[in-house]
Amino acid sequence: MTSPTREATMAAERPVLVHLLPSLVPTGALAGAVAVVIDVLRATTVIVHALAAGGRAVIPCGEINDAKAVAATVSGKVLLTGERQGAPIPGFDLGNSPGEFSAKACKNATVVVTTTNGTRALLRAVEADRVLVAAFVNFSAVCEQLRAESRPVHIVCSGTDGAVSLEDTLLAGAFVDCLSDCGREVKLNDAARLAWDCFENHGCCLAGALEVGAGGERLRSLGYDADIRAAADVDRFAIVPELRRDPLRIERGCIGMVKGHWPR
Ligand code: MLT
Repeated sequence: MTSPTREATMAAERPVLVHLLPSLVPTGALAGAVAVVIDVLRATTVIVHALAAGGRAVIPCGEINDAKAVAATVSGKVLLTGERQGAPIPGFDLGNSPGEFSAKACKNATVVVTTTNGTRALLRAVEADRVLVAAFVNFSAVCEQLRAESRPVHIVCSGTDGAVSLEDTLLAGAFVDCLSDCGREVKLNDAARLAWDCFENHGCCLAGALEVGAGGERLRSLGYDADIRAAADVDRFAIVPELRRDPLRIERGCIGMVKGHWPR
C-alpha cells in the first residue's frame, strides 16, 4: 500500500513534458496544460524581437496563401513576413531575420508570419489552455512564468524540416533544468530527460551548438551568421509573448524578469 506521504508527494508532482517535434504531441495531450513553443532558429526568436520592437501583434499562419489572405483582412499597418527553406518569400515585406524587425519597421504593426516549421508548431499548440512563445532571448522571463504556473507544462519543439533539432532540444532542456530546481517535484517524460542531457552537454557553449545543428548550418550557408548570434543572446528581452484567441494572434504578454535563470 502506498503511504499517505508518498501519495502527497506524487500528487504534488507537476508533469513537465518535452515533445521533440510537433508531430510527436499526442492528440488532445495539451488540453488543460500550458504549452511552450520553441523555434530558436528562427521563428520564435523573431516573434520576440518583433513584439519587443513595438509590434502590435503577430499572427502565425501555416501557408503562404493563408498569410496573404490574413494580411489582406488586417486594418492598420501590416507586415507580411516569413521564410521558406530559410530564404525570404518573394513579395513579402520582411524575411525571418531578427535584425529586420527594428522599432522603425515594427512600431504598431501587425506582423503576419509564415515559416517552415515554427508557425506550424504554434498552430499545433493552440489546443493548450495557455501558449507561450519561447527562445533563448526571453529564457528567464519564460522560466518565471512557468515557475508560477500550476498546470502541467508541455514544451513543444519545432525541429527542422520534420527532424529533431539540436537548438530547440537544448532550450527545452534548459527549461527542464530550471523547473526541476524550483522546490517542486516534477514528473518528466523521456524526451524531457534527453533534452536535459542535451542542455547539460551543450549549454556551456551555446553559440557553437547553434552553429553546428542542421538549422544553423543552413543559415550559415545562406549568410545568416548574425541571426545565429542573435538567437544565442540569452535574456536580451523580458517579454513572454502569448497566444490570444478570437482572433488568433500573439501579443506581448507578461513583462518582467525577476531573476536570471541561465547558469553563468
Ligand atoms: C522555421 O520556422 O522553420 C524557421 O523559422 C526557419 C528559418 O527561419 O530559417
